[in-house]
Amino acid sequence: MITYLFKKSVLFVFLRGSMKFITAIIKPIKLEEVRAALSEVNALGMTVTEVKGFGRQKGQTELYRGTEYRNDFLPKTKIELAVKDEDTDSVIDAISSVSNTGKVGDGKIFVYDLEKAVRIRTGETGDEAL
Ligand SMILES: Nc1ncnc2c1ncn2[C@@H]1O[C@H](COP(=O)(O)OP(=O)(O)OP(=O)(O)O)[C@@H](O)[C@H]1O
Ligand SMILES: [Mg+2]
Repeated sequence: MITYLFKKSVLFVFLRGSMKFITAIIKPIKLEEVRAALSEVNALGMTVTEVKGFGRQKGQTELYRGTEYRNDFLPKTKIELAVKDEDTDSVIDAISSVSNTGKVGDGKIFVYDLEKAVRIRTGETGDEAL
């Protein structure tokens, strides 16, 4: 019985398609290039927020649009996308290939398992809602 239920739930998850939620923190100047690169892969939507942050160099200066910021927090752009599992790597590649300048502060990408998505207008759920 337990085996049966387990198999059923695995099959259910498989049929529904699993999803990832990707958060990328990039340099604001790279946003347009990243958006263009993402439109070449299977990114159906995204949310963009202007944020502030710091990484490993926290106290040190980093150039931003010719200005030397001496405070800890630097302007960054956060991009959030929900994607089908199978599109995760192409989205990560698209973001990192155009964001990599080789200098400090290029940013970071975090990937989480996404449990549920709902498309409000249609009531679709799972990866059909993306
Ligand atoms: N561990 C972290 N947790 C949450 N946000 C982070 C973390 N590390 C970096 N960030 C966010 O990403 C932005 C860019 O980080 P950054 O690229 O400077 O990371 P880093 O580890 O210092 O790498 P690098 O040495 O290449 O600069 C930060 O301003 C911050 O918003
Ligand atoms: Mg850094």
